[in-house]
Amino acid sequence: MNNISKGKSPFYPGQPVPVDFFIGRLNEIQKITRAATQVELGKPQAVFLTGEYGIGKSSLAGFMRYYSEKNNHLIGIHILLGGADTIDELATKTVEAVINSQVYQTTIAEKIRNALSKYIGGPELFGFKINFEALKADAPNLSHGYLPFLRNLFNRLKEDGIKGVMLILDEINGIAGNPQFAHFIKALVDENALNKESLPLMLMLCGVEERRREMIRHHQPIERIFDIVEIKPMDNNEMKDFFNKSFDSASMKVQDAAMDLLCHYSAGFPKIMHIIGDNVFWLDKDGFVNEDDAFNGILIAAEEIGRKFVDQQIYSALRSQDYLTILKKLGKAQFDLSFNVKDMEQGLSAAEKNKFNNFLQKMKRLNVLKSGEIRGQYIFNNRLVRLYVFLNSVEAKK
Ligand SMILES: Nc1ncnc2c1ncn2[C@@H]1O[C@H](COP(=O)(O)OP(=O)(O)O)[C@@H](O)[C@H]1O
Ligand SMILES: [Mg+2]
Repeated sequence: MNNISKGKSPFYPGQPVPVDFFIGRLNEIQKITRAATQVELGKPQAVFLTGEYGIGKSSLAGFMRYYSEKNNHLIGIHILLGGADTIDELATKTVEAVINSQVYQTTIAEKIRNALSKYIGGPELFGFKINFEALKADAPNLSHGYLPFLRNLFNRLKEDGIKGVMLILDEINGIAGNPQFAHFIKALVDENALNKESLPLMLMLCGVEERRREMIRHHQPIERIFDIVEIKPMDNNEMKDFFNKSFDSASMKVQDAAMDLLCHYSAGFPKIMHIIGDNVFWLDKDGFVNEDDAFNGILIAAEEIGRKFVDQQIYSALRSQDYLTILKKLGKAQFDLSFNVKDMEQGLSAAEKNKFNNFLQKMKRLNVLKSGEIRGQYIFNNRLVRLYVFLNSVEAKK
């Protein structure tokens, strides 16, 4: 096999994974399914899906939507709120998501579109053209009548066997900063609970833990609403399963030693697994991934992540010369992912030492480092970023 005959890459860096390539997460699926089953029986539930950036929140939410539609007969609405800051925008994005959702039963999809026909301008190649003017004009009504809107939709679909609604609010970074959002969510849940006939609603928010805390700061009772499902880094078996299945689907095999490298540098992060996998996929020439292929793919992936993430965010945020020399020393130091402040300080100049604490706080805010459990311990969030910082320090590129 050579590059020219290469088919579609089975890796999806930068987008939620298609259901067919979804790997692992059995515990989380089980927990969410338990809630979905309650909803199917008529009892509303609220789940907060948390975990770090790139850990797989959107992918799991998308998978659960598909899975709960099949197994619990819930109609899923997955709303990506990136760029939305207000409840009105949330409401209009909900309608858009409903209109363009990939429902697996065509009769239901048709019904939905009939119900919302006033917001549809006509069919398009992929999905439907939204009549944004009509939608925008209705935004205040939609946001005030959000629950009735959902209930109305549900009532129309009941006779087709739909037992409830799964409402996924994803990418809440922007809107969680708006105090009204926390109040809106609490009101939605309460209003529904107080209703004689509550809508069987599975509310699922996806976000990093800081967003949940932010919402609690804005409205304390948010703390009691949600069952929390935390997504952790994948374990070795899940990672192996992922690489084997993905490469297998492209008729490629992975040597054991190469597999160890792929897993080590991915460190349980699905996002990194896809970036590394994709590079190895394009690099390999004979359909057999050996250690060289794996390591070269890892180096390219580190460059790629480094250029996108480290260069743009970190180097530009660390303009001071002392910060940059600290980073370089950190790059060269002998540790894997975690280091202790005391050990590092020994190699720093007096000026650097003065700035070290600020440097660490900055790196934490940039999501490069996190605090460890031991005092003074800091851990790189990501092994590829660690590798890139190391490569930069030895190549003296900067
Ligand atoms: N269970 C999984 N199996 C395979 N790939 C996954 C899985 N979860 C996430 N990914 C991949 O990891 C990357 C990040 O996932 P995403 O769901 O966007 O994370 P998050 O929403 O937490 O930032 C994407 O490229 C996605 O395809
Ligand atoms: Mg996401």
